[in-house]
Order: sequence, then C-alpha cells, then structure tokens
Amino acid sequence: MTDPLVLGVESSCDDTAAAVLRGRSILSSVVEGQSDLHAPYGGVVPEIAARAHAEKVDLCIEAALAGAGVTLAEIDAIAVTAGPGLIGGVLAGVMTAKALSAATGKPLIGVNHLAGHALTPRLTDDVAFPYLLLLVSGGHCQFLRVDGPDRFVRLGGTIDDAPGEAFDKTARLLALPQPGGPNVERAAASGDAARFVLPRPLLDRAGCDMSFSGLKTALLRARDTVIAGKGGITERDRSDLCAGFQAAVTDILAEKSRRALALCPGVTAFAVAGGVAANRRIRAALEEVAGTLPFVAPPLALCTDNAAMIAYAGAERLKLGQTDGLELPARPRWPL
Ligand code: KG4
Ligand code: ZN
Repeated sequence: MTDPLVLGVESSCDDTAAAVLRGRSILSSVVEGQSDLHAPYGGVVPEIAARAHAEKVDLCIEAALAGAGVTLAEIDAIAVTAGPGLIGGVLAGVMTAKALSAATGKPLIGVNHLAGHALTPRLTDDVAFPYLLLLVSGGHCQFLRVDGPDRFVRLGGTIDDAPGEAFDKTARLLALPQPGGPNVERAAASGDAARFVLPRPLLDRAGCDMSFSGLKTALLRARDTVIAGKGGITERDRSDLCAGFQAAVTDILAEKSRRALALCPGVTAFAVAGGVAANRRIRAALEEVAGTLPFVAPPLALCTDNAAMIAYAGAERLKLGQTDGLELPARPRWPL
C-alpha cells in the first residue's frame, strides 16, 4: 500500500509554510519568511505576523501543491500546527486547514509544533524509538525522550530564555542584523572565544535544567566595558564577544546533554532539532557528546520552522488513527 499524501501547514511564529509529503519523501516544501516585516521592530510583532500569515497561507499551500505536481483532490490528509505559538498566526493556519478539510472531506490532523521538531529526525534518518532529543530554538529549549509519535518525556530545559532568543538579543546588542543566530555565528567564526569568558549558569547544578538570561546581561556588561574603555566597538571586539557568547551557550548545551544522556539509558540515538541546531559549532560539540551513539542532526532547512515536519508528524499520527474534527482548537500554549 502506498503511503498517504499529506499536506502540512505551519504558521505559529514568523514563517508561513506549506509542504506535501508522501512517506518520508518531501515532494515540496515552501517557506515564506517574515523577517523583513519585523526587522524595523527588533523582534516578532504578533499583530503583523498574524496579518502576514492570513495573507500568505493560501498562497503557500497553492505553491506547495503546484511544486509537488498534485491537486488538492489528491491529498489524503491535512496536517496543521495547532499550537503552541502566536495565537493569531496559529488561527490563520488552523482556519485554513479546517476549510480545506470541510471542502474536501479529507481528515484534519492538529499537530503540536514541538512534536513536529521532535519527530524530524525520523523524517530524515532511520531513527527508532526511544531516542533523546535536544530541541533548541528561538522559543524553546528542552531535552525530550521521544518514546513514540505522541509520547514524550521531558527531562529538563531552560528555566528562563531560549538560546535562540539569546542569540537574537546578542545580535541586537552588537548591532548585527536579525535573525541573530546565523549572524552571530558568522561573526564568531573569526573571534577569540577566550577574550570574554561569559558565565555558564546552572552548570554546577544537578539535572538538565538550563539558564540563558544571565548570559545576555553578562554580554551587555562586557560590551559596555569595551565601549567605556575606548568610546566605541570595533569589528574585532564584536567577533570576540560573539565567540565568547557562542562558546558559553555551546558549553551549557554540551554539558547538560551529557547529563540528559546519562538519564536515559537504552536510547537508540541522540538527535537535535530547532533553529539553533543549525549552528555548526554547537552541532560539532553535541556530536562529540554523543560518542558512539548515532548523532542525528537534520539538514539546516528542516531544523528551522517548516511545514514538512508538520506533515510528517501528521502522517505519524494518521498511522495511529488519530485525526481531529472541525472543533480542533488553536492553542497558544500546548506542552508536549
Ligand atoms: O526553530 P526556529 O526556526 O523557530 C522557533 O523558535 O520555533 O528557530 C529560530 C531561532 C532564532 O532565534 C535564530 O536566531 C536561531 O533559531 N538560529 C540560530 C542559527 N540559525 C538560526 N542560532 C544559532 N546559530 C545559528 N546558525
Ligand atoms: Zn520552531
């Protein structure tokens, strides 16, 4: 029997996305970013995001269907991110998916955005349950033992900010463009990580909880000390500050990953997902922590927000016979 053709829709943050999947084959994946719209404000503005999702979601779906060379009538199921996220954006996707489901009679599957990230390693690699996942993005940072498509055990996570948020804040403090992660990584490549040694909060504490908000404050202080000393900040200073910041985040994630792995013997792999997992320095450090265990890091385009992961998570739920009705709620908060 051929695998079902699944349409995925994602609109929970600042990317509007649609994708068509059959099994593990991504037939199309369209991502329409909004960073230009939010850039003047230094962060995602929920109202602007919601309006842009509402304007673009149907066009993304049309483009994804055309890219896959299929018609809506050929789709077997419609998977949509139903939370967590900015509610205006989530609603735009959920309402559109409901309309398509009602019009075609095809099953609707509400997907948790975090489950989408958490199952991505199974879309890209042969990873069996259970596996350890570090989900590290702009809004989230947690260790999950993934026992099944709908079974996740949270082992620990950030007690304040997510690392992606800290990368974005660092970029703002150093006048680098958004999104901060890739730009901080680029600047750090030529920097000296030993010049500014920033704190590694909670590293001496047992368990795998993490904290990143103190790191931002320490970076701000280091930057202001440089400015006070010579009246400005050079490219060299900027690179060194980025390198010091990236080294601190890397150390925290690596050490806590070691502890998380110790908490779940018997896992088949150590996988990473989420936007920050696109960082090459962080990936390399985590791969080292994995040791002899298979280390799975999806390609960069599947680490950041996309709809292929939503279609895949939907397909896994469909296989279990789990579908939703038109009463599917859009949830701003939805822990796994
Ligand atoms: O998963 P994602 O696309 O969105 C959610 O938060 O759900 O992650 C976006 C975050 C942003 O904060 C961005 O700065 C960060 O991932 N990011 C990176 C890199 N690429 C993206 N952080 C560090 N290094 C990168 N290369
Ligand atoms: Zn995400």
